[in-house]
Amino acid sequence: MSASIESSSAAPLDLMFSQDLVDPEVVQMLPPELAIRPLASDDYKRGHLDVLRVLTKAADPGAAAWTAHFLEMRACADTYFPLVIVDKKADRIVASGTLYVERTFSRGLGSRAHPEDIAVDRTKQGRYLGLLLCQALMYIGGRMGVYKTVGNCTDANMPFYLKFGCHRAGRQMVRYTEGAQQPQEPSTSPPAARL
Ligand SMILES: CC(C)(COP(=O)(O)OP(=O)(O)OC[C@H]1O[C@@H](n2cnc3c(N)ncnc32)[C@H](O)[C@@H]1OP(=O)(O)O)[C@@H](O)C(=O)NCCC(=O)NCCS
Repeated sequence: MSASIESSSAAPLDLMFSQDLVDPEVVQMLPPELAIRPLASDDYKRGHLDVLRVLTKAADPGAAAWTAHFLEMRACADTYFPLVIVDKKADRIVASGTLYVERTFSRGLGSRAHPEDIAVDRTKQGRYLGLLLCQALMYIGGRMGVYKTVGNCTDANMPFYLKFGCHRAGRQMVRYTEGAQQPQEPSTSPPAARL
């Protein structure tokens, strides 16, 4: 599934999924200098990886490899829903988060969703962008008919998840693959400013 909207330079953007799946309430709530939309095939140049580095390691594979990865993800229908918030004037990504939709044979052949890689540029934290991004991810889950949304987070970020209706359930078990790139601890810097 692909779609296009216009970028700030009026050229159409090649999106990961349709803008119709973006919560209209969140679109309205953002300040006029910011816009929320699906990830576009040329967002490498808008600092997508720089924003992700607020959260974890994100080595730079170069534009061509990044774009190939984008296309591979888009080829998996109704599975990956990466959203970005863009500073329109600077034409830079200031926040990013992805909803992964996972199909199961249980729950009447249902689907569940995982919000992942949620990151807000350090200079923009504390302005409710993280909350709005998560609201928009939950909206997509609703549109996709998932029966639940499950997210992993550190203890430090639990209060953030509680803000949009999540509650603690179970414990996470993890095993990292030997020799693979390992994550680093997320930033624990407190939210600073407001919209
Ligand atoms: C965590 C993160 C996504 C929050 O985004 P943000 O835009 O800074 O947060 P918001 O302004 O939307 O915060 C919404 C509310 O959650 C609270 N909150 C946000 N992060 C919090 C945290 N780590 N601990 C406690 N409360 C937090 C805010 O104080 C605010 O509460 P209020 O409504 O009472 O004022 C952002 O700080 C970030 O990118 N952190 C580094 C990456 C990371 O840890 N990502 C994983 C997210 S689970």
